[in-house]
Amino acid sequence: MSKKPLILGIESSCDETAASLITENEQGIPVVLSNIISSQVEIHKEFGGVVPELAARSHVEKIDWIVKEAIDKSGKKVEEIDAVASTAGPGLIVCLSVGLSFGKAFSSSINKPFIAVNHLEGHALSPKLNSKLDYPYLLLLISGGHSQFLNVQGLGKYKRLGTTIDDALGEAFDKTAKLLGVEFPGGPQIEIFAEKGDPNKYDLPKPIFNKGGCNLSFAGLKTAILRISKNIKTEQEKFDLAASFQKTIEEILYKKTKIAFSEFQNQNKTKEKIFVVAGGVAANKNIRFMLTNLCKEESFQSIFPPIELCGDNAAMIAMVGLEKFKLKQFDNLDYPAKPRWQLDEEAAFLKGAGVQL
Ligand code: KG4
Ligand code: ZN
Repeated sequence: MSKKPLILGIESSCDETAASLITENEQGIPVVLSNIISSQVEIHKEFGGVVPELAARSHVEKIDWIVKEAIDKSGKKVEEIDAVASTAGPGLIVCLSVGLSFGKAFSSSINKPFIAVNHLEGHALSPKLNSKLDYPYLLLLISGGHSQFLNVQGLGKYKRLGTTIDDALGEAFDKTAKLLGVEFPGGPQIEIFAEKGDPNKYDLPKPIFNKGGCNLSFAGLKTAILRISKNIKTEQEKFDLAASFQKTIEEILYKKTKIAFSEFQNQNKTKEKIFVVAGGVAANKNIRFMLTNLCKEESFQSIFPPIELCGDNAAMIAMVGLEKFKLKQFDNLDYPAKPRWQLDEEAAFLKGAGVQL
């Protein structure tokens, strides 16, 4: 029986300090041995968003015991770790630097390879932690900082089909929540409000709904919510606005995903039609339900990470580490933190996100 790789993943790109140990079983299926996440929600609450300096200080205070906890909970010994994978970007540079430096120092101290991981690739591969998933697949990545459709052709091989041209979807949820008086991060709360409201009460705009291919835009929606929220007087009106917002988002995602399906099929002549949804907003149950139904209509297989792996975590970073380890894709200890690091690096530098409207 050959020894299976044991990978330590470390994540500190924003407001979660996380560490995880993963390995794989005899069938080559990943196994999460520990997944420790320490959220800073309480620290940033009063500021209505993440304060980089406070976030970095908290990462520094917690990183060593979070990593220790991940090792202790895994039932493995430090000497058994085969590689250390840390998020190197994108994210807040002061935060990234903490997990990146710690990961480099740790790998050096145990004399094992170091692997730099793109946080977005972590989200992209997160469903592999609980589902069998082969390339290629269509990915909808919806988080607090990104909203993209990507043709995932292999490890490190991404072709962007569409992107938001302004706000990310998680940002739209958080800003709407703030206008409704909900504390940061408000996304999950909007979902709860929406259940109690009338989704047809407010007619909200759907920017670039009929143009721009599968690109997305949420800024106009935010402006409309700001205007309406000024006249809101009752709790019920808040619930109605949340429900109308949730319904509008679902309509936008339904239409744009359908376009992405056909673009994905034009690019991939394979029979496999797999659709993966990842990132914090993928935890939204109504969005999951709507997209699952769309997949049934369009004969796509739908795959979602478990809800607890939708948000930021280190198991997904270790997952990328595991794939890179098997391909011997190691990095040097002078690997820089990259605050901006797109998955499809060619698409990233196009002016105005390269979107033709
Ligand atoms: O992936 P993530 O944890 O962090 C980033 O890399 O950005 O995503 C966080 C985002 C936040 O904007 C949060 O409000 C949103 O995901 N979110 C949700 C839900 N749970 C988290 N948005 C809508 N519905 C949810 N249930
Ligand atoms: Zn994330």
